[in-house]
Amino acid sequence: MTMLDYGPDAILMAGLDGENWRLADYEARGGYAALRTLLTSGGTPEGVIAELKKSSLRGRGGAGFPTGLKWSFMPRQLPGAKYVVCNSDEGEPGTCKDRDLLRYNPHAVIEGMIIAGFAMSATAGYNYIHGEVWSVYERFEEALEEARAAGYLGSRILGSDYSFELYAHAGYGAYICGEETALLESLEGKKGQPRFKPPFPASFGLYGRPTTINNTETFAAVPWILRNGGERFLELGKPNNGGTKLFSVTGHVNRPGNYEVRLGTPFAKLLEMAGGVRNGNRLKAVIPGGSSMPVLPADVMMATDMDYDSIAKAGSMLGSGAVIVMDETTCMVRALERLSYFYYEESCGQCTPCREGTGWLYRMVHRIEEGQGRVEDLDKLLSVADNIAGRTICALGDAAALPVKSFMRHFRHEFEYHIEHRRCMVSGVDIEPRWGRAGARGAPSGVVTAAGVLGQAA
Ligand SMILES: Cc1cc2nc3c(=O)[nH]c(=O)nc-3n(C[C@H](O)[C@H](O)[C@H](O)COP(=O)(O)O)c2cc1C
Ligand code: SF4
Repeated sequence: MTMLDYGPDAILMAGLDGENWRLADYEARGGYAALRTLLTSGGTPEGVIAELKKSSLRGRGGAGFPTGLKWSFMPRQLPGAKYVVCNSDEGEPGTCKDRDLLRYNPHAVIEGMIIAGFAMSATAGYNYIHGEVWSVYERFEEALEEARAAGYLGSRILGSDYSFELYAHAGYGAYICGEETALLESLEGKKGQPRFKPPFPASFGLYGRPTTINNTETFAAVPWILRNGGERFLELGKPNNGGTKLFSVTGHVNRPGNYEVRLGTPFAKLLEMAGGVRNGNRLKAVIPGGSSMPVLPADVMMATDMDYDSIAKAGSMLGSGAVIVMDETTCMVRALERLSYFYYEESCGQCTPCREGTGWLYRMVHRIEEGQGRVEDLDKLLSVADNIAGRTICALGDAAALPVKSFMRHFRHEFEYHIEHRRCMVSGVDIEPRWGRAGARGAPSGVVTAAGVLGQAA
């Protein structure tokens, strides 16, 4: 059996070959030892949370919020139902790591969630899984069955006083359902639309009960931390950025895929692991954390390390760890048009700045790409983006605005060239209208994935 190659520093994905996902394999790798020790040797919720704080584990779903701190917000003493929820919605263009975790190492996520339940005195957990990847859902269900049969789930786990049940739930395919409160609405069987906050899920979550939501990778890291100690996890990364991180490297590289590296690894090293830029082309730009994050030019990326603080210092965000690589053949107008269409299409429509503004952004970039742009469009784009960011119920508004602002900051000259010459600066090709009337809601063909964003340059 060939080993899956996530890189030499992998800990979450170490020793996986695609077949050894079952309970017995996981136990042979040391799995469920952390849970067993916790429940049979007098472990406490406070002890778990202290270890997580020591580890400097930050949420792997996007915002990078410290996990130990988040868990400490749960009102553990409150009687009645409390929940932990795993966010495996994974709809961010470019991101494809959680499905690998669930497919190849599902018990790490299950054990992480059971430990989370113990640390926060939760009664049950749910894993909200990206609905389009059905095989992943089925795999997780199978793993749950194994865990139940072995006594790791259910009442009085491993003979202790702790009882916890865990369920899988197939998501409905909307990107917005990855936003934590939209996810809760969807889990309750309602339309997946974000809630106003406060109240936050820690006080009013699933069915109005205290709830903690974490990303799949966040939960998967917990058993390793308890087995090896928070300090060791921290040492794998750097201060304030503990551990390893799975990066989904896509776009114009020779070996696209998921790579698990220590936080703080130079981007240049990650690019090398992914086989370098395709065809020996020059690197042009990188979106380092999923399509919602600001794009950075090649020289900035080549001087940046892959951790939360370094990427923030460079002017972007680590986000979900989806690294979208663009080479010199990429037309930035077309790339932004693709991204803007995605947010226009995925806006849930609750708030006016997002519902209307995403349409404005898309239509303006579309007409520039179509050769019908006007000089004043560029400032108008920035003004619309400014009027969306920070004025909406959820962060999808910011996610739509940030790419526009960063493309304009670093590649404005390409947009100006399109408008002035009605020709693409990169390909040198005169612009022909492609999807009919500018502003029509005609979709670019295909689904907007990282490949879709970049497909035009292939
Ligand atoms: C539009 C939108 C989509 C999101 N999609 C995801 C997602 O697919 N997976 C995820 O873990 N977090 C997603 N998030 C972030 C979640 O709201 C939440 O912050 C995260 O699940 C918390 O987990 P963490 O602390 O472990 O990162 C999304 C946020 C927004 C605004
Ligand atoms: S920002 Fe957009 S996606 Fe979020 S709640 Fe408002 S309309 Fe919906």
